[in-house]
Amino acid sequence: MSKPSFAIVGCGTLGTALGRLLFQAGYPVAGVASRSLSSAERVARELETDAYGTSPWEITKNASLVFLTTPDDAVEGVCRKIAENGGFAKGAVVLHSSGALSSAILESARKAGAFAGSMHPMQSFAGARPGVNLFSGILVTVEGDPEALAAGRMVAADLGAFHARVNAEAKALYHAAAVTASNYLVTLLSMAFSLNEAAGIDAEQSLRGLLPLIHGTLANIESKGIPAALTGPIARGDVATVERHLSEMAARLPALVPLYKRLGAHTVPLAKAKGGLTEEAAEKLMELFKD
Ligand SMILES: NC(=O)c1ccc[n+]([C@@H]2O[C@H](COP(=O)([O-])OP(=O)(O)OC[C@H]3O[C@@H](n4cnc5c(N)ncnc54)[C@H](OP(=O)(O)O)[C@@H]3O)[C@@H](O)[C@H]2O)c1
Repeated sequence: MSKPSFAIVGCGTLGTALGRLLFQAGYPVAGVASRSLSSAERVARELETDAYGTSPWEITKNASLVFLTTPDDAVEGVCRKIAENGGFAKGAVVLHSSGALSSAILESARKAGAFAGSMHPMQSFAGARPGVNLFSGILVTVEGDPEALAAGRMVAADLGAFHARVNAEAKALYHAAAVTASNYLVTLLSMAFSLNEAAGIDAEQSLRGLLPLIHGTLANIESKGIPAALTGPIARGDVATVERHLSEMAARLPALVPLYKRLGAHTVPLAKAKGGLTEEAAEKLMELFKD
């Protein structure tokens, strides 16, 4: 079956990676548009097309599949602008890739005779490189009109991802899960780096030291699941060790204490669920983790 032609609107991190992969998968390129001509031109060059610009409707009108990969806040307005300028072909599929927003924000495309949906890849595309397919093996969630669902599923499968349907109303929670697992991991590691730095361990050593620990933890989660993968002083009930962490942090890095305590308070129930933490130790730990 021949592949539908596609347009990318928003040539940033995801738009660039998606365009590149669709091109490699044999999808015909209708063109690319972005806010700045330089971004559109950069991606157009990669996709070997002369159809690029800053007026997306001039590009999208020739596409069967339109990806709106602008920042979340711009998607609805960009879609409306394209619709107002007659930029959606009848029966075209319009997909945005926001994790938190549903296809309801593409109402203007529906009114213009297109089908609307969202297709969110659960992946962090920062630093996507040519030759590396960051869609391979990942989860892509889809929701929207049946035609848009079918297109989203086809794209996901062609790029090597697996797909699942997500409820439009549940997207914010689903996206909060992705933010917790990916973005907050960065925040947590930044905290770990600060603690190491205060202990005289520089950033390079810190990274080299922490990475095997992180990979080991991930492997344990993969093989044993949560909460069995939990190790460390809370799982063991080493109250005095946690006390030492808190008093040293209060003296040297007090700004980190509230987050450490909050995470600790959420870790105690996991340690109890894993088994091995006595009720007495759990109570003492919860007392330490009080605000
Ligand atoms: N990055 C990820 O890992 C990831 C993962 C899953 C989903 N997503 C979703 O993908 C979408 C894009 O995210 P991103 O991280 O790729 O953002 P990004 O790197 O900031 O790229 C967004 C691009 O949109 C362009 N843009 C901004 N306003 C525009 C407008 N009014 N009209 C046309 N183009 C406009 C920008 O253009 P110029 O460069 O031309 O100024 C920028 O290059 C978001 O909905 C996000 O939730 C991202």
